[in-house]
Amino acid sequence: MNNFNYYAPTKVVFGKDTEKETGRLVKEQGASSVLVHFGGKSAIASGLIDRVCQSLKEEGIAYETLGGVVPNPRLSKVREGIALCREKKIDFILAVGGGSVIDSAKAIGYGVANEGDVWDFYAKKRMPTACLPIGAVLTIAAAGSEMSNSSVITNEDGGLKRGCNTDLCRCRFAVMNPELTYTLPDYQTQCGCTDIMMHTMERYFNMSENMELTDGISEALIKTVMKHSKILKEHPDCYESRAEVMWASSLSHNDLTGCGTDGGDWACHQLEHEIGGMFDVAHGAGLAAVWGSWARYVYKARPERFAKFARNIFNIQETDDEKAAVAGIEAMENYYQSVGMPTSLCELGIHATEEQIKEMADKCSFY
Ligand code: NZQ
Ligand code: ZN
Repeated sequence: MNNFNYYAPTKVVFGKDTEKETGRLVKEQGASSVLVHFGGKSAIASGLIDRVCQSLKEEGIAYETLGGVVPNPRLSKVREGIALCREKKIDFILAVGGGSVIDSAKAIGYGVANEGDVWDFYAKKRMPTACLPIGAVLTIAAAGSEMSNSSVITNEDGGLKRGCNTDLCRCRFAVMNPELTYTLPDYQTQCGCTDIMMHTMERYFNMSENMELTDGISEALIKTVMKHSKILKEHPDCYESRAEVMWASSLSHNDLTGCGTDGGDWACHQLEHEIGGMFDVAHGAGLAAVWGSWARYVYKARPERFAKFARNIFNIQETDDEKAAVAGIEAMENYYQSVGMPTSLCELGIHATEEQIKEMADKCSFY
């Protein structure tokens, strides 16, 4: 078992109607002027933005709004947010949405609290030393940004999708009402479930000795999400399934499933970030499209680990590790297909040219 730090400072407020507590939670943080940041249309259409703003008003908290964050959130919107925050002397950012909105909020938080160009932090030219405090009202279970140390932004100039990871940006609180996810289209629900599982799988397929407890948590998480993703295909308004998946989204990416390991592989995320940067696909679908090819490419480096995955996740009885590993990879791909996720770039609708593949490979080795 490796030594590890585990830091999960986000206060989680989970369950029905919890968005009504947002004003109180913001006040608890000592904020006086808030930026309410959100996406394209879902949070407006559902009335959530109105409810959240009402809850701020009830606590006497001043706020500005900035919507229009798109999936694979853009640097230009971040710059707009930074300028607005400086002009209005904002001291707290409330992200109402999914990973894209939360990541955009984190980037704005870095931009406001540090001198110079915010992109420097994503281009790995320097590290931020501060971030405005962030809170989240989550509307999709997927990226896990509500508890992660990560923010991923796309620079339209060059189609570069890059992450910046520091504990400074971890949300002060996350409001998680599973009912808010009822309105998700099935495709987004399944993309989210894929991403949730992948955050644990990236950590699970590592090269270190492993903790029995961490492995047990990881396997339970993956099986739980798999089970409930299928229920949600038939019953999108099943509260219990929405709740299981939502809690899994946070636990999968708040480092819990990496405790005691070497941190994992993360190649699929690096590959997907280049695909997302160039072709603007949904993150979870991009991950499903590359996972099978990645797994077949690497499993021989540690067949016993892939065999354990096959046996414990899919109950594969094969005693030979290599054969079990391959059977597990096939079973995972069958699962993806059963929930409408792609298992190749072609199925994702991408027919990349040789030149585009080379460009993505070059960008991918940036880290
Ligand atoms: O903009 P609206 O209209 O809200 O539509 C969104 C968007 O089109 C929609 N949506 C969200 N909540 C909804 C809803 N539609 C109906 N009802 C609701 N309740 O869903 C679409 C996707 O939203 P998005 O925020 O993009 O999804 P997700 O949470 O999957 O975030 C993806 C982004 O997070 C990054 C990804 O790369 C991608 O850019 N990631 C961030 C991570 C992190 N910060 O820790 C880790 C991840 O690995 C990931 O890289
Ligand atoms: Zn992800």
